[in-house]
Amino acid sequence: MTTIPTPAERAIRRRIARHGPITFADFMAAALYGPGGYYTRPAAGADYYTGPQIHPAFGALLAVQLFHLWTLLERPDPFNVLEPGGGDGLLCRDVLTAARHLPDGFVDAIRYTVLDRRPATGWEHGFPNADRVVGDALAPGQASALPPFHCVLSNELLDALPVHRVRMDGGHSRELYVGIESDVADGYEGALVEQPAEPSTPDLESRLSDLGITLSEGQTAEICLLLDAWAAATAALLDTGFVLTIDYGRAAADLYDPALRPHGTLVTYRAHRQTDAPLHDVGRQDITAQVDFTSVQRASEAAGLSTVGNVPQGWFLQRLGLQTVRRNAAPLDAGGSGWITLPVGPDGLPPETLPDALQPEPDDSRVWRTNLTHLAQPGGLGDFRVLLQAKGLAPERAAAALSWLDGEPAKHDYTPSSLAALIPPHTLALGPERIRLAGNPQPQ
Ligand SMILES: C[S@@+](CC[C@H](N)C(=O)[O-])C[C@H]1O[C@@H](n2cnc3c(N)ncnc32)[C@H](O)[C@@H]1O
Repeated sequence: MTTIPTPAERAIRRRIARHGPITFADFMAAALYGPGGYYTRPAAGADYYTGPQIHPAFGALLAVQLFHLWTLLERPDPFNVLEPGGGDGLLCRDVLTAARHLPDGFVDAIRYTVLDRRPATGWEHGFPNADRVVGDALAPGQASALPPFHCVLSNELLDALPVHRVRMDGGHSRELYVGIESDVADGYEGALVEQPAEPSTPDLESRLSDLGITLSEGQTAEICLLLDAWAAATAALLDTGFVLTIDYGRAAADLYDPALRPHGTLVTYRAHRQTDAPLHDVGRQDITAQVDFTSVQRASEAAGLSTVGNVPQGWFLQRLGLQTVRRNAAPLDAGGSGWITLPVGPDGLPPETLPDALQPEPDDSRVWRTNLTHLAQPGGLGDFRVLLQAKGLAPERAAAALSWLDGEPAKHDYTPSSLAALIPPHTLALGPERIRLAGNPQPQ
């Protein structure tokens, strides 16, 4: 089927026609963030689902963690939180809604700023302690325009950063560029095609050799060189405080394992289906790759952040009181139309294995539980990584940011579940902005 090229594809084609093939990273940047790109469309976000999109408990439990970080920092007022890549502010609204019910004047102190490249839509009205800034979280100088923050929190930002693609071919590392097919009949426009050539920068080879990775013959891999800029920009936003980064990804040795991931991890999503055709439907689909957490940690450490811990999201949310929320909150549901229903298998299958058919889910209380369970489900969102880093704090104080989840009641005024129990059920209802996951995952 021929589809009409989007403005993003037209711009990419003009650029290639004038200057020759472009790196995949340039292609991805233009396809997602250039004029007419995927993330400039109002419907961006309707093709994939994230933690905040499936349950308000995700933000509520993060509010509990933010409360604890605020306490460790001796309760600054204002307590400045930045969420780069916060999109339409759903997580921000969930955090601030839950914060109203946490003790000691937390809600009066917290000031939450969402920074995103996407245009603002006005969601922040009604949340006096929320701000919305349109900008690039990686831009040098962004820091000087914004207050020093006490916490930089992101969810699924890093997997959306443009990546280069490389392939080992005949013992040589080649970079995969995007060009236009030339061998086409008169009157037809050539397709966008992958074109291997010499790497555009020695940084690609340096990244892999610093990680001790040698690609196997025929192996394809993605490399995100922007992680260094992200780490530098993020560290510069803090004087003293924490960075909490949530995303899907792995340590480099696992990510670049040729037996497990010979073709890399780049995927595309359209209408909740994994399409895996990045050069098609340019500007109409999301493009993403798993995050190399070894490089994230190294880049952050070089920028002055120390690593407190890197734990699975499932463990993190369970320890923050997921079971307390499940027990205390009656499964409420605002109901209504306009929800997207997605099937998940009995084991909470990851998005890439979801079957095509979208099935209705008649039982709203079951949706509430299914979605809640899915946040921590192994094989799905539960395997996402939560990386906690600190700046300007003594090691014991930084370590307490995570160790309270191991249960140190004597050391703290509150336990995670005593705080989670304060969040009232009505704040945890699923409304029309959520995505319904149908199915019956294993109870936890
Ligand atoms: C996959 S979406 C995640 C949205 C949201 N955090 C969530 O969990 O639903 C990635 C978001 O990051 C934003 N983004 C990507 N690169 C960015 C950058 N350099 N600066 C600011 N925002 C960026 C995109 O516009 C998009 O809103």
